[in-house]
Amino acid sequence: MTAKKIDGLALAASLLAITRDDVAAFSATQGRAPGLAVILVGEDAASTVYVRNKLKQTGDAGIRSYEHRLPPDTSQQGLLALISDLNLDDNVDGILVQLPLPAQIDASKVLIAIAPEKDVDGFHPMNVGMLATGKPAMVPCTPLGCVFLAKSVLGNLTGLEVVVVGRSNIVGKPLAQLLGLENATVTIAHSGTQDIGSVCRRADLLFVAVGHAELVRGEWIKPGAVVIDVGINRVTRATDSESAGPQTRLVGDVAFEEAMKVARAVTPVPGGVGPMTIACLLQNTMRAARLRAGTGTIGI
Ligand code: GUN
Repeated sequence: MTAKKIDGLALAASLLAITRDDVAAFSATQGRAPGLAVILVGEDAASTVYVRNKLKQTGDAGIRSYEHRLPPDTSQQGLLALISDLNLDDNVDGILVQLPLPAQIDASKVLIAIAPEKDVDGFHPMNVGMLATGKPAMVPCTPLGCVFLAKSVLGNLTGLEVVVVGRSNIVGKPLAQLLGLENATVTIAHSGTQDIGSVCRRADLLFVAVGHAELVRGEWIKPGAVVIDVGINRVTRATDSESAGPQTRLVGDVAFEEAMKVARAVTPVPGGVGPMTIACLLQNTMRAARLRAGTGTIGI
């Protein structure tokens, strides 16, 4: 049996088409496009690629982007001053500070400085608390995309046995909360979980977000399960020719070929969760813009 490969690019394209229409309608009625400010501090290679992709898609959707590239030695005070300006800028509806930040900057002080209504990442403690208590909130983009992908295969998630591997603030924790709101039965597994393979094998729906290349093997997966792989890991690929030098490729946190032999459906890496994260970021920006214009409600 071979599983279905879940097409994150196609699902993201359909969400982006809706966002483009929303943006056009907003721009026509408000006389300005929605605006998203993206701040990148330093030159982390992966972050630079992520930010470039986010900015490109922002422009493609008709959203105005405000790019702020700051040097690696930027002070916390300098970054907080920029955020304060952006909080007051009426053309800016969403503010995103790409993580991780350099060591001299305390990320928690930065995230709490972003106006909660412009917090399109959903990382401000107020939005974290609102989601945790099931109230309307700005919700982190990757977990939102993960739930969209799962529902594209399974429809309703009510009553499903779900395992989330990973407990990060960016993915694992908010994802578990969103799934709880979908009435799933949720277990969070992590590096301290005993016999993690058996725990994963209980899952009808398995999410993996640990940043460990191909951690989840075929035998960890329940036959017929749906697997959503959040990992993006660059690994060295063995080459036939010495002279070709080391080549790299991207793999997920799940051993994809093994998973495809056991599961019902699996997200590929790349082309699974990644495109959905950006599509959800643009939807969140649109939601923030409507909220600030008084024409929309914040909502999960
Ligand atoms: N770094 C890794 N994922 C994310 C994300 O979703 N948002 C931000 N701001 N930084 C990240």
